[in-house]
Amino acid sequence: MQLRYIEDLAQGQETPLLAIAVADGASATEAYLSAIDSVLRGGVEAVMTAGDVTGKSSDEVVLYGQAEGPRRVVLLGVGKADDLDAEKLRRFAGRAVRVAERLKLEALTISLEGMDGVDAEVAAQAVAEGAGLAAWKFTELQAEDEESPTVLVNAVDLVGGDTAASSAGAMAGAAIARAVNFCRSLQDRPGNVATPTHLADEAERMCSAMGLDVTIFDEARMREEDMHALLSVTRGSDEEARFIIMEHRGGEDGEAPLILVGKGLTFDSGGISIKPSQGMEEMKYDMSGGAAVIGAMQAIAELGVHANVVGLVPASDNMPSGTATKPGDVISSLAGKTIEVINTDAEGRLILADALAWGARMKPAAMVDCATLTGSVIIALGHHAAAVISNDDALVAELREAGDSSGERCWQLPLWDEYRKQLDSGAADLQNIGGRPAGSITAAAFLKEFVADVPWAHLDIAGTAWGEGKLPYQRKGGTGFPTRLLVEWVRRRAG
Ligand code: BES
Ligand code: MN
Ligand code: ZN
Repeated sequence: MQLRYIEDLAQGQETPLLAIAVADGASATEAYLSAIDSVLRGGVEAVMTAGDVTGKSSDEVVLYGQAEGPRRVVLLGVGKADDLDAEKLRRFAGRAVRVAERLKLEALTISLEGMDGVDAEVAAQAVAEGAGLAAWKFTELQAEDEESPTVLVNAVDLVGGDTAASSAGAMAGAAIARAVNFCRSLQDRPGNVATPTHLADEAERMCSAMGLDVTIFDEARMREEDMHALLSVTRGSDEEARFIIMEHRGGEDGEAPLILVGKGLTFDSGGISIKPSQGMEEMKYDMSGGAAVIGAMQAIAELGVHANVVGLVPASDNMPSGTATKPGDVISSLAGKTIEVINTDAEGRLILADALAWGARMKPAAMVDCATLTGSVIIALGHHAAAVISNDDALVAELREAGDSSGERCWQLPLWDEYRKQLDSGAADLQNIGGRPAGSITAAAFLKEFVADVPWAHLDIAGTAWGEGKLPYQRKGGTGFPTRLLVEWVRRRAG
């Protein structure tokens, strides 16, 4: 999708569709609305006088223009002006794209007017993100329906706003949307396509396009490095595992990096502790954390963020076979700790253990991992927020703020020392499950054993990485969560 910022008036655009935000209680006499009316023969005023658009967030009316200027204008209510924020603008832009789709239009223009309560750069970024995310669809494995070919929006122009701030925001939002959509395409690819090798190939392709350094470990290299926890998970699979290292050098030489770690479990059958077959197909999205880190690295490179950032993705299948790790096996790990594998379905924490230990050796300023780690986070928070669990409350505050402004929220769960007892093992330094109570927290307590003294936070995204497409800028499938949050956090850190 092509996104441009155009320094021009909305009413002058030769566009098949112009989308306009209308806040609750706005009147047709407002300058930006009456300007539109000049090319609509008073249509806006008529609609608003009739009360058909009052600014409520469900309002939507399409008006038809004349030969000059916008062919159609859609007025979209956005709720109370005082409550307007970035997330409401993402949804507004998503609705505008859905209206264009319904009308089978490939292009539209979105006005940045009527958003005075929101900083101009933030508003343009949010609108660009919402439009870019809404226009994207995963189609690569399906034939075109010849009767009614899908028409997707492929060009969006933003107009109005404040030139310098709005064009900067629009360009950042477009880069972030591309990164999230890259993440979503990796998520939506099934396990037979998105293998560990495929993730590594895609990371390599992205890194060479963006000028990032990239290193890929194969299993022989993992063995040399003592990554026995990661190797224990891939043992049962015929697919080769990969460990992906991506490096963005945007900071000073020698400046401690920020490290992003993502679980790249390309299919989670549960291994010998096999999952029930009902719904097992969804476990193709168990690589969502890894996909988000690869996507975030793309945006960080494209935005030229002034920080050193390293992305780490342990990528593996989890399969049962005669060579698979068995319940009761005791394995080693990169950090040297031994682990009793009670349940082979608690595999994410094993591959993350080695990735986090690898990251900790680089003495990062902070390290954040994201992983579809536990079903129990869905019981705790549903699908509206990720859990954030950490050894550093200041880092939690940063991530909560980055989450609120990116629209990818997270909510803290505690990590008190008492939880560690649930991981005591009779046979090894620790065991890989902590029983039913506080499943998301004991998973994080396990990870904490491998981060040494690095400020670290874990995001459990099992409830947020995949969805039914409930928001206007989403579709059924991968959501890209937490690509936007990670990029926002890194940008804020870089100042
Ligand atoms: N990948 C799953 C977690 C998951 C569940 C992700 C639902 C997305 C949706 C993870 O590897 C897993 O199997 N976790 C187990 C842990 C248990 C064995 C301690 C779980 O949550 O049941
Ligand atoms: Mn599992
Ligand atoms: Zn898993």
